[in-house]
This record gives sequence, C-alpha cells and structure tokens, in this order.
Amino acid sequence: MSGDFVVSLAESDPSEKFRRLIEVGLALTSESDLSTLLGRILLEARRFTCADAGTLYLVTKDGRLQFSVVQNDSLDHSEVLVGNGSSPVTMEISPTSIAGCVTVTGSTLNIPDVYEIPGTCGFHFDRSFDLKSGYRSRSMLVVPMKNPKGKIVGVIQLINARCPGSGKDTAFSSDQEELVLCLASQAAVALDNARLTGDLRRSYAEAIHHLAKAAEYRDKDTGRHIERVGRYAAAIAGAMGLPQDYISDLLLAATLHDIGKLSIPDCILQKPGKLTSDEYREMKCHASLGGEILAGSENPVLRLASEIALSHHEHWDGSGYPHGLKGDEIPVSGQICAVADVFDALCSARCYKSAFGMQESCEILKQESGRHFSPAVVDVFFRIKDRISEIREEFA
Ligand code: C2E
Ligand code: SIN
Ligand code: SIN
Ligand code: FE
Repeated sequence: MSGDFVVSLAESDPSEKFRRLIEVGLALTSESDLSTLLGRILLEARRFTCADAGTLYLVTKDGRLQFSVVQNDSLDHSEVLVGNGSSPVTMEISPTSIAGCVTVTGSTLNIPDVYEIPGTCGFHFDRSFDLKSGYRSRSMLVVPMKNPKGKIVGVIQLINARCPGSGKDTAFSSDQEELVLCLASQAAVALDNARLTGDLRRSYAEAIHHLAKAAEYRDKDTGRHIERVGRYAAAIAGAMGLPQDYISDLLLAATLHDIGKLSIPDCILQKPGKLTSDEYREMKCHASLGGEILAGSENPVLRLASEIALSHHEHWDGSGYPHGLKGDEIPVSGQICAVADVFDALCSARCYKSAFGMQESCEILKQESGRHFSPAVVDVFFRIKDRISEIREEFA
C-alpha cells in the first residue's frame, strides 16, 4: 500500500496499464477468501488511480449497502474491515447518498469536489465521517460493480486522487474512470465466484456430515466419535505445519474414515463380545470398502477421504491392513487418522470393550509408537495434548 507503488502505476503507459488490468483481474478471480478479495479489489482500484482513500460497499441480500472495506492512507487505521462478523454496518440504498445514487442508476459518478456538489444534483455528500476524523474528502470516483448479468453487487468509491508526481490533490480523469469501471466488473465476477465457492463448501460440508452420521448410526454408542476424530486429526495436522487448505479438508475427510462399515452386517458390527477370526477378517474389509465407496471423485475432500478410509488401519511396522504398507508408504493422512481414531476408540466404551482412561490410552499410544503408529505423529500428539483434552471435553 506504499505511496511509491501507487505513483509508479499511475505514471505507467497505457498498454502497461491494460496488461496490469488483465493480470489483476485474473488474480482476483482465483481468490476465494471473501474478505481478502474485497480488500484487494479496493487496493487495486486505488493503485490504478493514486487514490488516497476508498470504501467498498456490497449490496446485501436484503437490499442495503454494507460498508465492507474502508482504506485511508492518511489516517491511522489504513485498512478497516467494517462490521466484519457480528453486526455489519449498513445503510439504506437511497438516491440521495453518493454510493446509493450509483447503485440505483448504475452510472459512474466522477466528482471534482464533494463539498461543491450543486443542490440540483439530488444527492449530497455525507460529511459526518470527515467531521469525526478531521479528513477532507475532495475528489471522488464512484463506480458500480456490475456482474455479467447486469446486476449491481457493490460499489467502489475512491476518494482524493493525487497527482502522480507531486502528490497534490487532483480530480479523477476520464481514463481512470474507464479503467476502474473495467476493474469493477472483473471484481464483480470474482465476488460472485468467491460467494459460490463459499456456499458450495458449506453445502458439501453439510452433506459429508450427514453421510458420516449415517455410517456411524449403526455403530452404536460411539457418540460423537467421528467429530472428535476430525478435530484431533486437524489439530495434529496443524501442529505438524501442514497447509491450511489441507487441514480444513482433513477436518471433513477424517469423519468418513469408517464409511465402509456401512457394508458390515449388524451381527458383527454390534457383537457384544470378541470377534472370531472369520468375523474379524470380514470386519477388516471396511477399510478397502470405504476406499472404494469414496473413490473416483474429483473433489479434494472426497479424494482425501478415500485415501484415509483405505489407509487408517495400516501400521507403521507393516503389520496393518488392507495392504500391509510400511512407514512413509502410508499416506500422511492415514498416519494421522490412525492415531486420532485409535486414541478415541481407546478412550471410549464400545459394545465389545469398556473405556480406558486418558492416562492408560496415552500409555498405549506411547508403547505403539514406531509399531502401530508413526513416531513423528505420536510426538506431535503429545506436544498438543492440552488441545486434545479440550477437544475431548468439547465433543464429549
Ligand atoms: P473401532 O472400535 O473404532 O476401533 C478402531 C481401532 O482402535 C481398532 O482397530 C484398534 O486398533 C484400536 N482399538 C480399539 N479398542 C482397542 C483396545 O481395547 N486395545 C487396543 N490396543 N486397541 C484398540 P481394529 O482392531 O482393526 O478394529 C477395527 C474395528 O473392528 C473396530 O473399530 C470395531 O468396530 C471392530 N472390532 C475390533 N475388535 C472387535 C471385537 O472384539 N468385537 C467387536 N464387536 N468389534 C470389534
Ligand atoms: C456517500 O454519501 O455515499 C458517502 C458516504 C461516506 O463516504 O461516508
Ligand atoms: C485446531 O485445534 O488447531 C484445529 C482443529 C479444531 O478446530 O478443533
Ligand atoms: Fe476403521
């Protein structure tokens, strides 16, 4: 957000600006985190115009304008996300405000000095922010963010254009109008995209949760086993420094580890006592069955879930099933979920066993480090034991 960078862009030649516009548009489209995206849109618009400050408004579902990002290089809080979370600050879409007028008409407003708006205009500048902050708003460029369907999804309001060389106050040029309008429509596409990605993720997280629940339903008295296993696995992966995307996928995917138990008959699954060796052989099929049920998806969460279902009963020393993989032949997701799953099974009562206490369960993990489990994963588990205990209580 440095002034130097702003200057160099506004001075650059037209083809350079055009190239930059395409680059920025592409970068925006690949950003799926909504608040990061909104901040970038406003920042890029200000870079194209050397604007000292700016506000990005979004049109809400109930037809209001929401202050979503405020940036100001001259004031202390250079970037403020307004009302992020609990109570977003919104205002009515009224043609008497500047942003409201642009939302209603869909036309750009380029105003040399907002304190000199003629009374005949129908809209006026609200000076309350200036009065509170001591800031002097002068030139303003306000453009609609119109998506390809022609719907206005937000408004970019740029405040106080500066001369590239001297840094003096100036008005926004008509070239800049066009550039920002172009950026704003690319931003509208990116915004739709980020919202859809968010909705999609929430819907499939919900679908996965129901699927996992359905599988667990027949496996009596496991309580919130699947949720705990997901949380433990995510916490371990976090402490191992794995990437955030992987961690959030793992949180969902791990809950499906025993989906293959759907194909195991009740008389085995719910048998109160010890399984015969034939019964255990059949039970062990749940790993490869789960892998198959989830195989062949393009979706990263389902791909990971398939990998976990298949590999969560492999042992570090090669004595596990279904493939007898050894050490790092076992996918890291399977190494993590083995610890998460067994720890939770040990701490819980099952139809065939009573629960061990925390201490005894931990002893077993320690003993099995390097035999059943990856030593590195067991080490991480003990490093975050407090967090593990918290999860255990939270999802009891
Ligand atoms: P589960 O109950 O979710 O247990 C998962 C894993 O936790 C087990 O995988 C095992 O590695 C570990 N585990 C569970 N309880 C104990 C325990 O008391 N001591 C130790 N050292 N480890 C324990 P495993 O053995 O491959 O079993 C897979 C699934 O087969 C179990 O899932 C359970 O549904 C079923 N199962 C295993 N043994 C019996 C049994 O004797 N009777 C019945 N009815 N089901 C069993
Ligand atoms: C406006 O009247 O739309 C501008 C409001 C503001 O910047 O505070
Ligand atoms: C963590 O604890 O670091 C992530 C897993 C969770 O949200 O419980
Ligand atoms: Fe299992």
